[in-house]
Amino acid sequence: MSTLAQRTFQHPWFLAAYERFVYGPFLSAFALRPVSYRTVYRSLREMAAGAGGTGDVGPGGSDGRPRTGGRIVDLGCGTGWYSRRMSADPHYRGLPVVGLDLSEQAIDVARRKAASRAGAGDPDGSPQFSVGDAGRAAQLLGPGAEEVWICGALHQMGHADRVLQQAGAILDPGGVLLCQTFGRRSARRSVVVRVLEHFGHRVFPIGEVRQMAESAGLRFEAIRVWGIVMLVTMIKPRR
Ligand SMILES: C[S@@+](CC[C@H](N)C(=O)[O-])C[C@H]1O[C@@H](n2cnc3c(N)ncnc32)[C@H](O)[C@@H]1O
Repeated sequence: MSTLAQRTFQHPWFLAAYERFVYGPFLSAFALRPVSYRTVYRSLREMAAGAGGTGDVGPGGSDGRPRTGGRIVDLGCGTGWYSRRMSADPHYRGLPVVGLDLSEQAIDVARRKAASRAGAGDPDGSPQFSVGDAGRAAQLLGPGAEEVWICGALHQMGHADRVLQQAGAILDPGGVLLCQTFGRRSARRSVVVRVLEHFGHRVFPIGEVRQMAESAGLRFEAIRVWGIVMLVTMIKPRR
């Protein structure tokens, strides 16, 4: 059964307004500071640049982190802002970007936005989008991911543990998971946390995310918490 938060992402009017008017103000309210797509993108990229920088899987990317050569996967991609940003980022040049989302309506918007950018003469490859449950990512997308991004989505996924398992399964050894979700250091569930839960969002105790990550074979690398907005990077060790 879908939650209220998941059903919201099926409404065309909401999807039309989402990137411009919803994402930034919504996150900023819970981060207690101004936060935009760009802030999250840059912060996660910085955090990932520190992850696993001593490995030997391949030549270094522009951030010095070794590349695995795999795809970049955006789980719960919604209207595709992160996928489009990664496709246009020289750091990812040559790597396919793949977005997956449960909402057909969101994927329609993501495809249209990516196509109109390509139509405007964008020289970079366009992201590919498909409809599906992130809890079946391994079956739907197959292995071979250098990075998995899950932004603004893990706390909406009723089976977050399974989604992290799937991310762990599709990541290459040395690959990184970059995640923006809701997290709290306190065991107490504040009124804000209860209201978010009512709409179908989890606000994870940070220790719970760490445990889910460990069960999925992922190691916490870096974490930043702004209010109840948590950014975390996790690495799949090379053994
Ligand atoms: C708040 S939006 C974030 C979208 C996008 N990552 C962004 O930051 O703009 C959360 C997205 O997660 C998707 N979602 C929720 N549960 C999902 C699941 N089980 N599998 C795939 N996508 C899911 C929703 O459809 C929605 O598009």
